[in-house]
Amino acid sequence: MTPAPIGVFDSGLGGLTVLAALRAALPGQDFLYLGDNADAPYGIKTPGQVTVLTRAAVERLFARGCRLVLIACNTASALALRELQQEWLPASAPDHRILGVFVPLIEAVSGHGWREAGASDRCLRAAFFATPATVASGAFTREARRLAPGLRIVEQDCPGLVDALEAGDDPAPAVIRAVAAALERGTPDIALLGCTHYPLAEAAFRAALPPGTPILSQPQIVARSLAAYLERHPQFRGGTGRLDCLTTGDPAHVGARASALSGARLTFSRA
Ligand code: DGL
Repeated sequence: MTPAPIGVFDSGLGGLTVLAALRAALPGQDFLYLGDNADAPYGIKTPGQVTVLTRAAVERLFARGCRLVLIACNTASALALRELQQEWLPASAPDHRILGVFVPLIEAVSGHGWREAGASDRCLRAAFFATPATVASGAFTREARRLAPGLRIVEQDCPGLVDALEAGDDPAPAVIRAVAAALERGTPDIALLGCTHYPLAEAAFRAALPPGTPILSQPQIVARSLAAYLERHPQFRGGTGRLDCLTTGDPAHVGARASALSGARLTFSRA
């Protein structure tokens, strides 16, 4: 089989946090990034809208040669992944695969969290910060109950945080409001950042949470998990470390914002 890039999909630019970790963990792998900037933000859309947009994005990446697509976007993972994996993919592209970002995070928090708390006989409280649509879906809690029944998840939405980060505004006010609302429901043993954008506001989360609260953010966790997946499924590996970036938005504008956010010069083409 000829090498194919691995597709990385996000609603916008937040997925660049995941992409950077993927490229660091898998330097010889080709990646094709797609940001649906024209339709972002997803975090305030309905499940039906997110499913239609996510399927269109995955179809675009498959049409460009990807055989494996990672949906880096938590909102799309929450609202669309199951349906695409279970109903759409088997009929449309049975030798292709779509992965999401919840399972690696839950596996990491259950392992890491139990050790951190040093108590395997009590319930670990994890505050999960995510977009309004992700929280409304309840998908993370459902998945966590299935994989790690000992975890107690408190889901907290962070209205306005993605907008602030995309606009280059100070994320602290939105983070402070969200953390205060989460703390009203108890002090977490660990905090999980369940949105691709939120690692960009990690310092603000650290400042707002009780001192010493461990924070798990997804990029490195997802990268380790993808590397392990590729060990088990070497047919999806390949390339020379090439990166191409697509956007449904204006490539010049998106490229400039992406370069500012990531600190690397990134060029985008029209999807
Ligand atoms: N990238 C999305 C996520 O990880 C959030 C951004 C948006 O609202 O579009 O949930």
